[in-house]
Amino acid sequence: MKNKNVIYLLSLALTGASLLAHGKTGTPLYKDPDQPIEKRIDDLVSRMTIEEKVMQLNQLTLGRNDNANNMADPVNDIPAEIGSLIYFSSNPDLRNRIQKKSMEQSRLGIPVLFGYDVIHGYRTIFPIPLAQACSWNPDLVKRACAVAAQESRMSGVDWTFSPMIDVARDGRWGRIAEGYGEDPYTNAIFGVAAVKGYQGENLAGSKNIAACLKHFAGYGASEGGRDYTYTEISRQTLWDTYLLPYEAGVKAGAATLMSSFNDISGTPATANRYLLTGILKKRWKHDGFVVSDWGAIQQLRAQGVAADRKEAACKAFTAGVEMDMMNQCYDRHLAELVQEGQVPESLLDDAVKRVLRVKFRLGLFDNPYTPASTEKERFLLPESLAIAEQLAEESAVLLKNESGILPLTGLSKIAVIGPMAKSNWHLLGSWRAQGKAEDAVTLFDGLEHEFKNQAQLTYARGCDFDGEDKSGFVEAVSLADEADALLVCLGEKAQWSGENASRSTLSLPRIQEELVMELKKTGKPVILLLSSGRPLELARLEKVSNAMLQVWQPGIAGGKPIAGILSGRINPSGKLAVTFPYATGANPHLLQRAAECASRTREVPGYYQCAVVRVCVRAQLHHVRVRRPPAFGYPGKMRRQAHYRDSGYEYGR
Ligand code: BGC
Repeated sequence: MKNKNVIYLLSLALTGASLLAHGKTGTPLYKDPDQPIEKRIDDLVSRMTIEEKVMQLNQLTLGRNDNANNMADPVNDIPAEIGSLIYFSSNPDLRNRIQKKSMEQSRLGIPVLFGYDVIHGYRTIFPIPLAQACSWNPDLVKRACAVAAQESRMSGVDWTFSPMIDVARDGRWGRIAEGYGEDPYTNAIFGVAAVKGYQGENLAGSKNIAACLKHFAGYGASEGGRDYTYTEISRQTLWDTYLLPYEAGVKAGAATLMSSFNDISGTPATANRYLLTGILKKRWKHDGFVVSDWGAIQQLRAQGVAADRKEAACKAFTAGVEMDMMNQCYDRHLAELVQEGQVPESLLDDAVKRVLRVKFRLGLFDNPYTPASTEKERFLLPESLAIAEQLAEESAVLLKNESGILPLTGLSKIAVIGPMAKSNWHLLGSWRAQGKAEDAVTLFDGLEHEFKNQAQLTYARGCDFDGEDKSGFVEAVSLADEADALLVCLGEKAQWSGENASRSTLSLPRIQEELVMELKKTGKPVILLLSSGRPLELARLEKVSNAMLQVWQPGIAGGKPIAGILSGRINPSGKLAVTFPYATGANPHLLQRAAECASRTREVPGYYQCAVVRVCVRAQLHHVRVRRPPAFGYPGKMRRQAHYRDSGYEYGR
C-alpha cells in the first residue's frame, strides 16, 4: 500500500512536469494530434499509475457472446480504464456510450480498443478461409477483407482476431476451416493479403481495422485433429512449417498477434519467451502487441507450468503476452508482481506502450467515436456482394467431371436432392460474426434462378445431415426416376467445424452416402455438390458419382455462382489448398516435395485434383509456370493461372 502511494505521487509529479513541458495551453502533449505518435506515447505513459497501466492490458467482453465455447461472465460494470473489449454487438451506439465513459470518466481519457472475431466477413459473409485459399486469388481475398473491415469499423469494431494462419494438415481438426490450408507458403500469401485488406494503407482510415495473426504458433499441429492438445514440434518444423506465415504477416505490418493454446514440446505457447520475445519482438522487431487467446493464461495451470493465476500472469507476461483476454490474471495480479519486483516496471511500460501504439495508430485518441450510420449504409453493399459472389465462384473446386457431364445443357428435368439443397444456415460456416442465414442464397435458389428458362427443377430432401431416418429416400428416388440428371447436395453442418468441433472421420455420415447409393440405382447421372468446412474422404462417393463439385461453405452469395458453374456460364477455376486423402486413416496426408508430387500426379486417378494442386503449390513456389488442367471440357476461357506471381504478393524465401 505504501509503495502504491509513493508510485502514485511520483506519477502525479511527472504528470505536472510534462504538462509544464508542453506549452502554455495546458493540453497534455499526448492529446495533441500534431505530435509524433512515439512522443505522445512516452508522454502518456509518464503520467500513468501502475494500476492504470495494468488496466490497459486487460480485455473483457461487451454484448452478447454467440460462441458457445466462450460463454462470457456478464460484464455489467465495465471500468472506464479498461484497455479493450470484445464487442459482440453491431450497434455503434453502445460502443460510443462505453467509449464516452472512458474518454470522460477515466483520469487520462484513454480510448477503449474494441475487438471481434471477424473471420470471413462481418455481415457480408464470404466463403470460409480454407475455401478462399482455393481461389488462388490473394487480391480478391484482400478485397473481401477490406469489405469486412469497412462493415466492422462502421459498426464499432477496431480490431479483428484474424487472419488465422495456422498451417493445418489434419482435416479432422475443426479449425482447419479458419485457415488457408496445409501449405506454409499459401498461408503466408493469403495471410499477407488479409492483413493488407483489413489494415489498408493507414490504420487510422475510417474503414480500416487492425489485424491479428493467430494462433502464434503451432496450434494446427494438434495431434489426431483434436483441439487444444499438446503439440510436439521440432525447431526445424517450427521454422519451416509454422513460423513462415507469421514472419510474412509481421513483415506486412500486422498490428497484433494472438498467442495460442497449445503446448509446444513442453513449453506452452502462451508462456513461451523464445517465441514471443526472442523471435517476435527481438528478431522480427514487431512493435505492436500480443493478446492471449481466451483463457490461455489461466490455462497455464492446467498445462502444468503455473501453480496459480498469479504465477500464470507472471509467466505469460514475462514471456511476452501483453494483453490478457478473459483470464482475470493481469487485473488481479500484475500490479502486485511489479511491486514485488517479480516483473520489472520497464517491462510493464513496454507492454503498455505497445497497446497504446496500436490505439494511436488506429486514430482512437483523436477520433474515439464511431459515426452514426444506418445498417443499409454499412452492410451488404452491392459491391461487397459482388466480391462475395466472385470469391465463392473462384473457391469452388471441380473434383471430378466424368465424360464431360458438366456443364448441364439440353436437359429438361433436373432433380435437386439432399439436406444441403435448401439450407442457408449451414452455407455460412463457423465464425459467422454478424452474418444472418436469411441473407444467404441457397443452392436451390441459385439453381432455380440459373435454370429458369432451361430446365424444370424438382426437389426432395432425401434425408437429414445425419441420423438413420431413411423415410425420405422413397420420394427422392421417385423424383430421380423422372429426371434427366440428379444434383445431390450433401455436406456438413456448420457446427461440425470451427473451434472445438473436430471430427473423427472425414467421410460424410452414412445416411448421406446411402442416399447416393439408392439414387445411383436409378441409372441417372449423379452430380454431387459438396459443402464442408474440411477436406472430405470421398472414396465411396467417387465411385458412384459422375461429377463432384466441392463448394465448401461458400458464405451468403454462393448459390448463384455455383449454379453458374453447373450451367456452364462460369468456368470452374478453384484448386484445392488442402489434400483430400483417400481414407481418413491416411491423415494427415500431404505430398512433401515438388518432384514427389509431380510423380504422384501421374499415378492418381483424375479426380484427385489435390495432387494437381500440390504441383501447383510447389511449382508456384519454385516459380514454374503452371497451366490449369484442361480436362474439364468447359467452354469458358482459361484464366487465373499464376495469381501469386501476378498479384505482387510474392513472399520470397
Ligand atoms: C479462439 C480465438 C478467438 C477467441 C475470441 C478463442 O476461443 O481460440 O480464435 O479469437 O476465442 O473469441
